[in-house]
Parts: sequence; C-alpha cells; structure tokens
Amino acid sequence: MQLQDLLFSQGFGTRRVCAGLIQQGHVAVAGHPCTEPATDVEPEGLHYTVQGVPWVRQAKAYLMLHKPAGTECSQKPSAWPSIYTLLPAPLRQRPNKGAVTGVQAVGRLDQDTTGLLLLTDDGQFIHRMSSPRHHVPKVYEVGTDEPVTEAQLRRLLEGVTLHDDPKPVKAAACEQTGERSLRLTLTEGKYHQVKRMVAAAGNAVVALHRSSIGALALPAQLAPGQWRWLTLEEVAALYGGGAGTDRLSRPNLASGSPTGASHAVN
Ligand code: URA
Repeated sequence: MQLQDLLFSQGFGTRRVCAGLIQQGHVAVAGHPCTEPATDVEPEGLHYTVQGVPWVRQAKAYLMLHKPAGTECSQKPSAWPSIYTLLPAPLRQRPNKGAVTGVQAVGRLDQDTTGLLLLTDDGQFIHRMSSPRHHVPKVYEVGTDEPVTEAQLRRLLEGVTLHDDPKPVKAAACEQTGERSLRLTLTEGKYHQVKRMVAAAGNAVVALHRSSIGALALPAQLAPGQWRWLTLEEVAALYGGGAGTDRLSRPNLASGSPTGASHAVN
C-alpha cells in the first residue's frame, strides 16, 4: 500500500493533504522520515508518526472513552460540547466506503451521565453491541434522591412499566450499594432507561455512571475525557469470542493512544 493511501485510510485528510504531509517531512515510518508519498508500506501493524505523534495503523478503530458530564453523544450537539471533540481529528475523519464518517459512539449516554462509552467505525460491531438479541449487559452506578428501599429494588427486578411500552422492563441485576445508591444491570438500551425505571420504581436518579459493558470495565486510570484503543482481547470478549472475531487480526488492534498508554486529548 502507498504511504499516502495508508494515511488517507487512517483519517489524515484527502489523498492530496496526505501527500503534502509526507512531502513536507511531517511523516516518519518505523522511526525513519519518509518524504515520498508513493512509498510502498506493509499496512499490517505499521508504526508511524505524523508531526511527531505516534500511531499504529488500525484496519478498524475500536476505542473506549471515559465520557465526562456535560457532553453530548451527538455529532451535532444542541447545548453541550460533543464527545467527538475529545478525540483527535484522524479518528473523526476516518473514511468509510467513500464517506468521511469517523468513529461513531455505540449507543448514547445522556448529557449528565458519565462513564464507559465505546466508539468504532465497524458497523457490524455497533450492530452486535446494540442488538437486543445479544443481551450485552451494561452496568450503571446510580445515585438516588431518596433512600433506596427493598420495595424499589424488588420492583426494578420484577419489572416496571414505562409510558411508551406496555411490556414491563426488568433489571438483569440490581443491588443496593449505599443508602442512596444502587447498581443496576440492564441488557437493553431504551431512551433514558435507567432514569425512567428508577422513577417508575418510586425514586429519582441524581447521578448516573456506566461502569461496564459486557466483560469490559472502565479502567480506574482512565480519567474523564480520556480515551484509549481497545485491545484485540477486549474486542474479542465483547464479540463474545464468537462470530466476527475471525476478521480481527492482532496487529490491526495493537493497543495504543495512538500507540500505547491512554492520554488526555483535551
Ligand atoms: N439510562 C439513562 O437514563 N441515561 C443514560 O445515559 C443511560 C441509561
């Protein structure tokens, strides 16, 4: 693959912009400056830098973000800054089937909700993670307005009715974690589901944090606003180790931010 095409595939701009970056000496491959846009490179696991920032080429991008409060999971936010402003430009500009789409959030969290958010440019992964058929458990740490009661916990586990759906919705698991806090596990993702379920059970949510999705927990060292790549093992575990994992190859998912430890991006 030509170096200019590789940069284009990774979201560094049009082929003309990528060629310019290379010609102007902004790109190094495996530690060596490279000024010829048509240089042939092996894409699998390629380590390169652009303006001194290290990257590893990723066939598909899979990352986690610690969503801070006061951000919207929308490309076109209405009142709060978009979570996408927390990501470096190449992740927002990755081309997909001819269009510049970048990575997309897998589901949404409310503006005031914090915690684990996955982003990817792999449509199959988004479908798998969002499909109610796959019952991917999501764990929420909930702060409540009133003390939590046994009756409320029982209602959440047995099922509450939300105004837009006659079928009761149940928590897959629910436990009290403090006088005014509980941990709720859901396997579906309806609009404002936690807030509406807790309200229907007779309390109100005053703080909401997503601590895990499937086997993946938000790492304690990933501060609000930080992101990092998922490892191959993490993506495979989210896929359930089954269908879909065969197309993941280790070098493409080398962890990094862009190449290694997580880092602040804002
Ligand atoms: N349920 C909610 O009510 N809000 C969220 O952000 C996520 C789940």
